[in-house]
Amino acid sequence: MHAKVTGAQHLDELLDHDELDDFVLYSSTAGMWGSGHHAAYVAGNAYLSALAVNRRARGLRTTSVHWGKWPDDIERELADPHHIRRSGLAYLDPQQALSALGRVLDDDETVIGLTDIDWDTYYPVFTTGRPTRLFDEVPEVARQLAPAPQQAAGLPAASDSPRGCAT
Ligand SMILES: NC(=O)c1ccc[n+]([C@@H]2O[C@H](COP(=O)([O-])OP(=O)(O)OC[C@H]3O[C@@H](n4cnc5c(N)ncnc54)[C@H](OP(=O)(O)O)[C@@H]3O)[C@@H](O)[C@H]2O)c1
Repeated sequence: MHAKVTGAQHLDELLDHDELDDFVLYSSTAGMWGSGHHAAYVAGNAYLSALAVNRRARGLRTTSVHWGKWPDDIERELADPHHIRRSGLAYLDPQQALSALGRVLDDDETVIGLTDIDWDTYYPVFTTGRPTRLFDEVPEVARQLAPAPQQAAGLPAASDSPRGCAT
């Protein structure tokens, strides 16, 4: 955490901002919505986005990108790919990711997540321990949360039927 936070602070203080096209901070989705095993990493990444907002308030162009998983982590054996995929995360396609980064910079975003997620898997896994409203507006999650058509029509859902009774 110290390296990430002080590194960003030093760049903020030392760079000549008039000469920069962009000031881009590489954060992680861990800093956007947490990660079970990386508390210090989460805090360090969350700091980068706080710094981005703070710099914008000072009139300085800044973007903090919360990246998902890059595939080079597999080659460097920094992550168990089976565990990552089982959690619902997909590895970023580098070409797509860089093209998305270009759009984010063109749009002059301040804080944004760029990740590839299979929400059908990720959301149920993420909420196994406790519920969250954090992803309610993600379209794929909203579809999961929407009541089944028969519930919306006021009819009992199949699972509400007493076992062994025909409806
Ligand atoms: N890879 C991913 O899937 C992923 C996902 C989300 C976010 N990110 C973020 O993207 C950034 C780059 O990730 P990466 O995977 O490309 O990392 P990386 O290849 O491990 O590179 C990390 C860089 O940080 C430097 N560094 C590490 N510890 C340092 C310290 N204590 N003091 C000063 N410099 C230090 C390293 O210097 P040396 O070369 O000298 O060791 C290296 O240049 C990181 O901020 C990471 O949190 C990466």
